[in-house]
Amino acid sequence: MNSAPQSPQPVIVFDDVSIAFDDKVVLKNLSFTLYHGQTKVLFGVAGTGKTLILKLAMGLLKPDSGRITVLGEDVTAMRERDLFALRRKIGMVFQESALFDSLNVEDNVGFRLLEEHVAAAEMSERVREALRFVELEHTVKLAPSELSGGMRRRVAIARAIIANPALLLYDSPTAGLDPVTSTTIIELLVKQRDAYQVSALMVTHRLQDAFVMATHAYDAAQGKMVLVPRERNWDSRTSFLVLRDGEKIFEGSAEEIANSEDAYIREYLTP
Ligand SMILES: Nc1ncnc2c1ncn2[C@@H]1O[C@H](COP(=O)(O)OP(=O)(O)O)[C@@H](O)[C@H]1O
Ligand SMILES: [Mg+2]
Repeated sequence: MNSAPQSPQPVIVFDDVSIAFDDKVVLKNLSFTLYHGQTKVLFGVAGTGKTLILKLAMGLLKPDSGRITVLGEDVTAMRERDLFALRRKIGMVFQESALFDSLNVEDNVGFRLLEEHVAAAEMSERVREALRFVELEHTVKLAPSELSGGMRRRVAIARAIIANPALLLYDSPTAGLDPVTSTTIIELLVKQRDAYQVSALMVTHRLQDAFVMATHAYDAAQGKMVLVPRERNWDSRTSFLVLRDGEKIFEGSAEEIANSEDAYIREYLTP
């Protein structure tokens, strides 16, 4: 076994990526790298291309120029069939949660496994495991309409993690939720990051959520997330990227963004 120290593996690399729709440039020469086990938070006002970044990472769209590598594969050059295989390693939690109203929680969470014709007993076990992670085991037979907004979001997370993805993409996972419920969602994201070393991109409009994520770590012994004292260096596993008019104007740690003197970022950070 090779025991030499390893440098962190890049999980997503955007290399000089640009894309325009009609005449409107949405992303301009964007470069960033997400490393294994890290979460990168994407900030920016509505329409700056945050959701687009997630779609590009999944290969749903191709950029006009530049290269995007995901889990070691160049998604800008891949065929649809190979992209399909790659997407199976990615868990997605999209803005709308988009549960199937006609399916119960169990079938929503296990949907991917149904498609893959996984045997019923195995599916049932894995669905329960995923629901246990989000503490919703008791809801298997319920319809989405019987759940609260926060519970629906947790079901969406269970569905995203069912295949033990190497990478999670979250689009505003706490949008529309109250602060307390939002924190329970962020705790799940922190647990994925720290207990399973799952890499993630997270779009959020809620600064509070991003700072909670950056300043807390999951403590397995206590079974919950705990505050990391500031002097112990706020969590380097979470970094921030701010977009403005299609360009990256900031990338760095929670500490760095909190101390930024850039006028636009200061205004952005002011509640
Ligand atoms: N498939 C598409 N066709 C045309 N325009 C698009 C498409 N996808 C995104 N856009 C445009 O790109 C911009 C950024 O969109 P989006 O990534 O959804 O922003 P955000 O998630 O930051 O609010 C918007 O102006 C949107 O209209
Ligand atoms: Mg969006």
